[in-house]
Amino acid sequence: MSWKLGLATILLLLSVLLLPLFCRERTDPSLSELPGFAVYERACVRCHGGRGQGRKASNIAERPVDLASPAFRDTARVESIRDIVARGKGKMKGLEGTLSPGEIDSVSRFVLLLSRR
Ligand code: HEC
Repeated sequence: MSWKLGLATILLLLSVLLLPLFCRERTDPSLSELPGFAVYERACVRCHGGRGQGRKASNIAERPVDLASPAFRDTARVESIRDIVARGKGKMKGLEGTLSPGEIDSVSRFVLLLSRR
C-alpha cells in the first residue's frame, strides 16, 4: 500500500470516529440567556435534547418524555422537577451526587421555562 493510500485510510477512519463529536446534541442557543442553561447543556441535553423534546430520554423510558410538551407544562412544578433531578425517576438516575443544590435548582427552573415558551 502506498503511503498516500495509507494516509487517506487514516484520515477517513479519523473523520468517521470524530463525526459523533460534531453531531452531538446542543441546547438551543436562543435559550442561552436563561439561568440553568449551562447546567442543562452539561447534564441533561444528551438525553433530553436541545429543547427538551425527548429523543434519547424517550428511547430509554417506556413512554414519550417531552419536557416541552403541554402535558408536562400543565402538570410540572419546580419542586417536583427538583426532586426528579436530585433523586431520579424511573430509568433516569438522580444527579444529586453530580450537581450542587444550586445547580439542581437553576436547571429545574430552566426546564420549566422550556415548557412555557
Ligand atoms: C441518561 C439520560 C438522562 C439524563 C442525563 C437526564 N435525564 Fe431526565 N429523564 C430521563 C428518562 C429516561 C426519563 C423518564 C423516566 C421515567 O419516567 O421512566 C426522564 C425524566 C425526566 C423528568 C420527568 C419528565 C416526566 O414527564 O415525567 C424530568 C423533569 C427530567 N427528566 C429532567 C432532567 C433534567 C433537568 C436533567 C439534567 C439535570 C435530566 N433530566 C437528565 C433520562 C435522562
